[in-house]
Amino acid sequence: NYYAILMAGGVGSRFWPVSTREYPKQFHDLLGSGHTLIQKTFNRLKRFIPAENIYVLTNEIYQDLVMEQLPEIDKSQVIPEPAMRNTGPCILYAALKIQKQNPDALMLVAPSDHWIEDEEAFKNDVTLCFEKSKSESVLCTLGIKPTFPTTGYGYIELEKEEKEEGLRTVKQFREKPDYVTAQSFLEQGNFLWNAGIFIWSARTIIDAFAKYQPEMYSLFKAGIPVLNTEQEAEFIATHYPQAENISIDYAILEHAETTMVLLATFDWNDLGTWGALYDELAENQRRNVVVNGKFISQDAVGNIIHVPEGKLVVLDGLSDYIIVDKEEVLMIVPKSKEQDIKKIRSVVGEKFGKH
Ligand code: GDD
Ligand code: MG
Repeated sequence: NYYAILMAGGVGSRFWPVSTREYPKQFHDLLGSGHTLIQKTFNRLKRFIPAENIYVLTNEIYQDLVMEQLPEIDKSQVIPEPAMRNTGPCILYAALKIQKQNPDALMLVAPSDHWIEDEEAFKNDVTLCFEKSKSESVLCTLGIKPTFPTTGYGYIELEKEEKEEGLRTVKQFREKPDYVTAQSFLEQGNFLWNAGIFIWSARTIIDAFAKYQPEMYSLFKAGIPVLNTEQEAEFIATHYPQAENISIDYAILEHAETTMVLLATFDWNDLGTWGALYDELAENQRRNVVVNGKFISQDAVGNIIHVPEGKLVVLDGLSDYIIVDKEEVLMIVPKSKEQDIKKIRSVVGEKFGKH
């Protein structure tokens, strides 16, 4: 009864100019491991979830990229979205499809672009949550011990008095709080980051949508008779774009009362920014990380440099910068401003098209 949905429809805009709308970061080998991020994720799941039960949700413009990078899956396992509506609609749609196939399905919801090396620990944590979701109507999340007050993640508040191990009750879920709130969450100590990985039964998440997102639920419920048939393409083309643009975090997790969290036993990095990639690749914080190129430096530390294969980079007197040379773009931005790259990309898009 194990199923998984792999979410691969994001644009990865903070990884511009390597990640672009035409070719987002999940389809790149950002770590230089010989596999793209989506390939690494698929391999991690297929160790304990049958490959034929793994669905990939992505924008229709990436359907061919998915098929090319994951030759093991059938075209019917790729759900092409005709519009970008964030993670809420795609999760509900996939849950309805899966439940029609198997009313007792348990599903793992996984992002396609995270770094997780300890595959055995990942499997054990997810399996524990699968077991819980089989016997109880709960929404399971995986939590990470926060190390700094970032505004880029969701926060999970734990009930204080509870035991430290295993699945714990969630008191409150807060998606992307402002900086001051994030700081106070860290000071209070009983908060975890949301890893963005979820485990539940198809039935439980569908019921949660019916309760907290009734409009979206009725919009998609109308399509149940045609799901997994030849008429489905027409239904998705006409109905999917009508769904609200909202992430699962705001749509469900901030409201649900039966959410639980397991402190992940594996190391995790969401590879959300150039700085996060630097942290994963740098052996120590003083080194420079150079992807592809040859490098000579003096008095330069903490830079991440991404250039075409074989390019010689010479740096003197520059520290903690992101330097990316990709086709017609050369970008030089301090690491402290990495969150602004999303904005920079959209300005460039408006002025010069595509990107
Ligand atoms: N199919 C599909 N369709 N996938 C999407 C869409 C979409 O419209 N939008 C985003 N995704 C995919 C992304 O490719 C990524 O793998 C995953 O869904 C999560 O989306 P992000 O856009 O990366 O979310 P986030 O990082 O801002 O926030 C989420 O993840 C954090 C941890 O990394 C939230 O769940 C936070 O609470 C969490 O802390
Ligand atoms: Mg993310």
